[in-house]
Parts: sequence; C-alpha cells; structure tokens
Amino acid sequence: MMSDIKKTIYQSIGKFEDTRFEKIHNITYQSSQEASVLVAQEIAQLIRKKQQEKAICVLGLATGSSPVKVYEELVRMHREEELSFKNVITFNLDEYYGMDKSNIQSYFYFMHEHLFNHVDILPENINIPDGTVTAKNILQYCIDYEMKIKKVGGLDFQLLGIGRTGHIGFNEPGSHFNSETRIITLDHITRIDAAPSFFGIENVPRKAITMGIGTVKNAKRIVLLAWGANKTIIIKKTIEGEISANVPATYLQHHNNTTFVMDKEASAKLTRVKTPWLVRSCIWDTSLKLQAVVWLSNLLKKPILKLTDKDYNTNGMSGLLMQEGAAYDLNIKMFNKLQNTITGWPGGKPFADDAKRPERANPAKKRVIIFSPHPDDDVISMGGTFDRLLRQGHEVHVAYQTSGNIAVSDEEALKFAEVSKEINSDSKKVSEIIDFLKNKKRNDAIDSLEVRHLKRTIRKRESLAATRYLGLSDKNVHFLNLPFYETGTIKKGNLSNKDIHLMTSLIDTIKPHQIYAAGDLADPHGTHKVCLDALFIALKEVKDKKYMNDCWVWLYRGAWHEWESYEIDMAVPLSPDQVLRKRHAIFYHQSQKDGVMYQGDDSREFWVRVEDRNRLTAVKYNDFGLADYAAIEAFKRYHF
Ligand code: F6R
Repeated sequence: MMSDIKKTIYQSIGKFEDTRFEKIHNITYQSSQEASVLVAQEIAQLIRKKQQEKAICVLGLATGSSPVKVYEELVRMHREEELSFKNVITFNLDEYYGMDKSNIQSYFYFMHEHLFNHVDILPENINIPDGTVTAKNILQYCIDYEMKIKKVGGLDFQLLGIGRTGHIGFNEPGSHFNSETRIITLDHITRIDAAPSFFGIENVPRKAITMGIGTVKNAKRIVLLAWGANKTIIIKKTIEGEISANVPATYLQHHNNTTFVMDKEASAKLTRVKTPWLVRSCIWDTSLKLQAVVWLSNLLKKPILKLTDKDYNTNGMSGLLMQEGAAYDLNIKMFNKLQNTITGWPGGKPFADDAKRPERANPAKKRVIIFSPHPDDDVISMGGTFDRLLRQGHEVHVAYQTSGNIAVSDEEALKFAEVSKEINSDSKKVSEIIDFLKNKKRNDAIDSLEVRHLKRTIRKRESLAATRYLGLSDKNVHFLNLPFYETGTIKKGNLSNKDIHLMTSLIDTIKPHQIYAAGDLADPHGTHKVCLDALFIALKEVKDKKYMNDCWVWLYRGAWHEWESYEIDMAVPLSPDQVLRKRHAIFYHQSQKDGVMYQGDDSREFWVRVEDRNRLTAVKYNDFGLADYAAIEAFKRYHF
C-alpha cells in the first residue's frame, strides 16, 4: 500500500491548471502534526517493505525543528506498533564543525535525543558526520563518508528541511549541483537562525560538514519538510523560481521523486494560494474578493476607489467582474468592508448601532482576558488597544502564559542579585545565585532553580510596572507559569493537562466576553505557537459553557509580523500620544531592551519594530484610500 503522500505524486505535478508556476511536487496539510505523521508512515512503510525483502533500508536524516514530529511518530510506532529499525542504516546530513558529540548543541546529541535512543537501531548503523575531525584529515573523511553511502547502495529515502537561505543540508548559496560531502562556511542568516539554541550568534559555529547536493540528489526518494511562515518566501522561490545556485534547494527541481510537505503557513505565498485567480477560475466568496482587491490595489499602487474595469481585466480578474457587474460597485463594497474594520472602541461602542462594527455594543462593560505568551507581548502587540479597553471602562485581566525566564540574560540577573545582596548581605540564597551566575559556562543551558526563580521574578516585576503604568490593578494580572515552558532550557516540554487546566480555570473564573491572544504562527516550535495551541485546546474544553456563547476571540500578532490587510477584522487606530504611551509601557520591560537574547535577524528593539509595524499598517490603510492614522493595531477574529 502506498502512503497518501506517495500516491499523490502521480496525480499532481503538471497535471492541474493551478500548479502552472510550480516546478516541484508539493502537498500542503492543515498542520505540521498531521503532515509529520504521514511522512513517518511513508518511512515506516519503506522500512517494513525492505524487511519483507530481507534488505537493508538506507535513510538520509535531517536535524533542526522540521523533522522533530516525524521522529516522535517513528518512536511511537516503534513502541506501539512493533516498527523495528534493525535493518535500518542512517546517514545524517550534517554536523557543526568543531562540535563535540557530547555537546547538547551537536547534531549527534539531537539525533540520539529525538530518535536513536528510543528505537532498536544498531549503533554501528548510525552515521553522523564527525565534527571533530582534524583539518588535515577532513578531505579523506568526507570522501570516506560518500563511499560509505555508495557502498550500502545509496540512500533509499532522504528527509530534508530547508533553511531561509535555501540550503538543504548545509549546502549554502553557491553550492554546486554535483557537490559531495565537504566542509562549508555557514551563511550569516543560517547562523542567526541557529543563534537561540546557542545563546547568541557569537557562539554559533562558523563551519559545518555537510553532505553535498549531489549526494542528496542521488537519493531514490526525497521528502522536504517546511513549517511556518518563516519558510514561506524561500518555499515560493524554490518551487516557482528558476534553478539557481543562489537557492540550492531549487536543484531538487531536477529530481523526479521529490515531494515538499508543508503546512498552510509555509505554502501561503505560492501563486496558487496567494493569488489563485492568476491560475484558475475561482469561486468568489467575500474574503477572496477582498484578498484580490487588496492585492490589485497594492500591485497598481492605486486607492481602491480608483481601480478600473481594465485594471481587473488585465490582472486575471475578469471572472470576478463578470460576477460583480462593474469595478465601480465592487470597489465600493470592498472599500466599505475595510472601512468597517476600523474602530476606536475595541470593546464595542456603547449604545451605538453595531451592525457594521467589528465588536458588539453590549454589554457596554465587558470582561476581557488578554493572554500574553511572554510577559511583554501584551504591551508590545496590543498596548494601544489594552490602554483603550481600560480607559473605556472594561474589566481587563492580563494572563501571562509563560514566565519568560529564559530570555533574561545572566548579566541582567546578576545585576539584580547584586542589588539584593547589598540590601540583604546575609542572604545565603542570594550568595549562591551570584556564585552560580559568575561560574556559569557560556553554553551551560540549564539554570539552577533559584536562578530561574530570580529571572522569572524580574519579568514578573517588569510586567507589573507596565500594567500599573497603564492603570491596571495588580489583582487583575495573572501569572500562569505554564509548566511546558519550565524546562530551564530553550527546548520546551509538551503541553500537558496541567497547562490546559491553568488556562481553563482562569477562563472559567472570569467568564470573559472578549479574549485576546497571540495568533503567531511564524515558528511552529516557538513559544507563541504552543501558547496558541494551549488556548485552542482550552477553548474546546470550555466551549459548551453558557458564558462562552457571549465570548469573542481576537488574535493579535507578535513582534515579528502583521496580519495581511485582507485578514484584518478589527483595526484599532492609535493617536500619536497613544503611540508614546505604548512605547513607555514597553520600556518597563527593561530586561528585554538592548541586545535581547532571542532577537532573530531584526536587530531593532521591540518598541522600534512594533512602532514601525503599526505605522505601516496605518500607511497601508491610507494607501487603500482610507483615513490617514498615525498607527493601527490589527486583530483577526477567531471563530471557535
Ligand atoms: C539540518 C539541516 C538543515 C535544516 C534547515 C532547516 O540537518 O541540514 O538544512 O534542515 O536549516 O532547519 P529547521 O528545520 O530548524 O528550520
């Protein structure tokens, strides 16, 4: 029996009109979880088939966040479905150069932690490039690695992730399509992406040993995994662009048994998804109409009310015009739709006609919970709206889902410990904390419980200072400290009943009319996504309670990106003075200022980034021909 993924390969590429721009077979699933299970099934089928044939099964394996759930599922199948790995030989794609096996950042450690320690693979069948080979021996070492793969008959199956540079393995831009296993210098973007697991870019190795493009391309079957909005641009370039050494993954266009497996966020920029009217006739519902009109207005840099019949006809939308009559009517409808998203009353405007407003007028005084994944996302992402809700008399509660302790640097923690020591010089506990921090090795990932407590407290006190500044009473601030986060390392645990219970009991106590939460999908393994999952599960559990009939859920986006204009259901404009108040509230989170630990590749501080983003949302609205505001915070309604 063929897996679902494999079956569709024969059905899809080049066959459907909407894959016109696509040069690699690909499938999109609702979630990375669902997709990973199917990929694991394909691998398991291959292993079992080879077992029946009494043959070995040679797997090429990847590390990083993408394959984690595939490995989880394989381990589950080993435990529960007797999937044996005794006939499996593995070759890993890469390893950081200069990296010892025992280091928790090594790919050796990763593979054992996620897969090898939990299945019955024979240790002698595991091959991972050795990051400690001396410079003198490296050439021969790489030749031997290649030979070893050839000797066992080549790779039956290669699992891949993709980097934002378009690398597969660590084949960075410039790599030759026939390259073999070798040492390579990592691109800056790759090092930035790896920085969080190394506690800062300065600790990320500069080189790695990687299988070549040629090595990968010789695999009989290739599956590349891509999850999350971070991958969407490189995915479009790889699937729709021309083959180029600048995007090494495009070489896979020449491989005839490759499938890209993605979640909705990763495939969001493919022509077929983003602008389907360019490749097929569409069923035009209101949201697709808005998406198309917004796109056309952006493309032609024209306000919506100035778009003409010709503009629509020459940009793949004649079908839409036929349905709507003329540009004039369509423009007005879509313009009004956007106009109706704007409100200065995020909790609803009391006693006003709310037929066309984003929120209900009643009850005039609402109970509101703002869920904030870390202690600062509330003010960073929706500080202006938070401020308005309070000033407009609603009962606002903030719930910080995680403690955020990991993002407090050791230097910052030491500063607070030393202040505390000066005031209370006898404290043994504080002395121990100071000793621990002073003696901590750079890459020692796990803090002592006391140090974690100190870091958690720093973030708690900063949050209370910010919420007090906005005028919220301390009793309305809730620190959930969800247990999944409290591992002491960057790698978090899985959500458990305890996490969900903490969420549901707060919802149950407050019985909110509005819930705000971070709808951040940029990184499928990031804390924001897990916090959102926790909310979705909690909502499922409480959805039948009577008070939930009156509860609306609004999603905001974190510091990294904003909703697309056509996705916005509520746009809350901020005056220049409100922008300043929001900035001050963010300033209270001092441990997150100046060189934040997990900043990504945007080195601007949070307040600068977010001000820029809120300003740009306002500019976009103005470009559509709507009013000119200083800044706008945007929300999307979630229907559960
Ligand atoms: C890992 C590897 C890399 C990653 C890529 C994506 O062995 O070779 O190509 O697959 O950098 O990383 P994640 O999955 O962490 O986004």
